[in-house]
Amino acid sequence: MSQVETQAVGYELIETPSANNKVAALWMQNPPVNALSKSVRVGLIEHLNAAIADESVDVIVISSKQNLFSGGADISEFSGGDLEPNLPVVLDVIENSPKPVVAVLNGPAFGGGLEVALSCHYRVTFASNKVGLPEVNLGILPGAGGTQRLPRLAGVQQALDMIVSGRPVAAKKLPGVFDVVVDSPETLLSSALAFCEKVVAEGSKVRKTCDVQIDVSTAPKELFAQYRKGLATQARGFFAPERCIQAVEASVELPFAEGLVREGELFMECMRSKEARAQQHFFFAERAASHVKDFDKETPVRDIKTVGIIGAGTMGGGIAMNFANAGIPVIMLELKQEALDKGLALIRKNYENSAKKGKLTAEQVEDRMALLTGSTEYAALSDVDLVIEAVFEKMSVKQEVFKALDAVCKPGAILASNTSTLDIDEIGEATKRPEDVIGLHFFSPANVMKLLEVVKTSKTSPEVIKTAMKMAKKINKVAVLVGVCFGFVGNRMIEGYGREANRMMLEGGTPEHIDKVIYDFGLPMGPFTMGDMAGQDIGAFVRESRREFIKHDPTYCILADKLVEQGRVGLKAGKGVYLYEAGNRKPIPDPSVLELAKQVAADLGVAQRDISDQEIIERIIFPMINEGALILEEGIAAKSSDIDVIYVYGYGFPVYRGGPMQYADEIGLKTVYDAMCKYRDELGEHGKNWFEPAPLLKKLAEQGKRFADL
Ligand code: 3HC
Ligand code: NAI
Repeated sequence: MSQVETQAVGYELIETPSANNKVAALWMQNPPVNALSKSVRVGLIEHLNAAIADESVDVIVISSKQNLFSGGADISEFSGGDLEPNLPVVLDVIENSPKPVVAVLNGPAFGGGLEVALSCHYRVTFASNKVGLPEVNLGILPGAGGTQRLPRLAGVQQALDMIVSGRPVAAKKLPGVFDVVVDSPETLLSSALAFCEKVVAEGSKVRKTCDVQIDVSTAPKELFAQYRKGLATQARGFFAPERCIQAVEASVELPFAEGLVREGELFMECMRSKEARAQQHFFFAERAASHVKDFDKETPVRDIKTVGIIGAGTMGGGIAMNFANAGIPVIMLELKQEALDKGLALIRKNYENSAKKGKLTAEQVEDRMALLTGSTEYAALSDVDLVIEAVFEKMSVKQEVFKALDAVCKPGAILASNTSTLDIDEIGEATKRPEDVIGLHFFSPANVMKLLEVVKTSKTSPEVIKTAMKMAKKINKVAVLVGVCFGFVGNRMIEGYGREANRMMLEGGTPEHIDKVIYDFGLPMGPFTMGDMAGQDIGAFVRESRREFIKHDPTYCILADKLVEQGRVGLKAGKGVYLYEAGNRKPIPDPSVLELAKQVAADLGVAQRDISDQEIIERIIFPMINEGALILEEGIAAKSSDIDVIYVYGYGFPVYRGGPMQYADEIGLKTVYDAMCKYRDELGEHGKNWFEPAPLLKKLAEQGKRFADL
């Protein structure tokens, strides 16, 4: 056995089991995910050529010794880098090798990783291994032949599903793609080598995927038409899905070489789109959220083996489910047995509903419920590692709870609050261990929403921050570290959203027009529909707690306040800004609300007029961005991409815009700054009150910079 190593691809000569044949094994080794960076591409070509030239080599294997085959093209090269030799060139060398090339997938293969395998002549893997073409999630399509080769091996329908959804599939479900599927990864290499021997024995046939003919009868025009129809809502606003369909269509309509050219054109179209820039920004933003300067590798992490939750209401119940789902036992505490029973019963009902939908088995429901116990005594929490308080949103109640926790919890236990607005520094003052106090701000429904704002106080220790960030991963949340201020990042920024929507209604805008513009911008629903769904009374409650900050503006959400006074609290009352028929969530516009707006506007001397789509977007979205700039200046968020993660995961901001800060970077901070100045100067008192640009926005706009440059 001889061994030649390059940096990113290892080369090894191996004998087959009967020692009859020689295999040149090319090991991709580019941690952490074997991205197909330039060094890997160069390494693959060099070693392929060496193996082809070496007369003793019968078969070439491409594989990896890491726990994955490859995570695909190196995404960091997309924004500039030396792309030669590009991936399609490498795959061309593989496919045209005169010696058989076998891909041995020892772990997941995504994107370009799977495309490498598809260009090989044979593929071997284990049954549960996952493979996929997730490029659509990056706003692009498979650009190294994936849209042409996968339909030839997996069938057109399967390829369409995989390419358009981006979802991975288990190898055992892709019989056309894999020649050998072994049960477990342990036997993979020996089976692969035995397969190599068989290939040689059968004449060392080079079997090119590009030569496979697609049976066009399996892909009639209607298949694509139906696909487009089914995708309309889901793909709303995205650029890449339609191009993915067109590329697969090309595989059916064109010879392979022409199909590849078409794929290349569509790939470049996607790559140049703002949606691709946004989605690729978001890919890295999500991962960067866990890169935090508040701790380092040496900072210890505490073990979270059991959790206590105070308050078994809406949030407490949902939070508890996250831990039970991850196999972590939870003790729930309420002061009254009745409230406790009600909370636990609701959790059971939620699990049983999941079981009815086939998402859980009856046994799993019982296993999870067995992890949830209840108590009405604080003493029950004496041994837990983490407590999360989710009681009423009132400082005195929270402080009482924390005082009690301080008295019973063991040293080292982390004491967390799920408050959405209160000052966690002040909550921590009720304890003798403020360094162990932190905010864990879950979003509702807490068992569903991916986002967790981890809120550090001025005293929270690095160890506690690190433990909270790691714990979030364990319960499958995306954690973003933020600082203390009213509403933290997400709810603080949303303030302008509701305020301006209300104000524009006063100025003559209709709720349905404003909602439609925001929906078309890409949010899941407009501000009035959202307010009605959440309950207009909740908004009124938050405004009440902020009265001190808004009292200078007598028009502040005045229509919403008046509607709440009339009992129009939203969907649950059958009337809010809209009307609702019993059992139906569809908002019905109500002319009497416009009448009220007209009257109130006249009383307050606010002129009514038509409001354009552009003004609606600028007045609702730009103040959020401006608040984001203040948040960055104050250090409440460490980086603009953290804000984007919060908005995409917590508020449904469209990922194809990358989040509010990326959206601002894309349209240019000068555009945002100029519009803020315009509304400040043109909207009278309202403008002066609410449209002063943040100094950071002004500075960056003047310097021609982006938030991402900070
Ligand atoms: N390129 C560059 N960097 C990548 C990368 C890629 N394809 N995939 C992951 N990384 C980086 C991440 O940014 C992260 O960096 P960090 O540690 O500095 O934050 C590190 O690798 C580890 O990534 P994860 O935290 O995501 O690791 P996991 O183990 O949780 O997941 C994975 C591994 C499933 C491979 C996941 O990283 C992933 O889904 N990667 C992207 C897969 C993908 O979209 N591939 C298609 C690429 S585009 C393409 O191939 C185009 C082609 O058709 C021409
Ligand atoms: P909720 O009213 O549904 O539940 C609160 C529960 O706490 C009730 O079951 C109550 O009996 C219990 N409780 C009150 N005082 C207690 C005490 N001293 N000891 C033990 N139990 C006590 O309220 P919800 O919506 O669950 O909110 C809880 C907290 O979560 C609040 O701080 C809220 O701001 C925050 N939050 C709420 C969100 C939401 O969308 N509902 C989102 C994010 C945070």
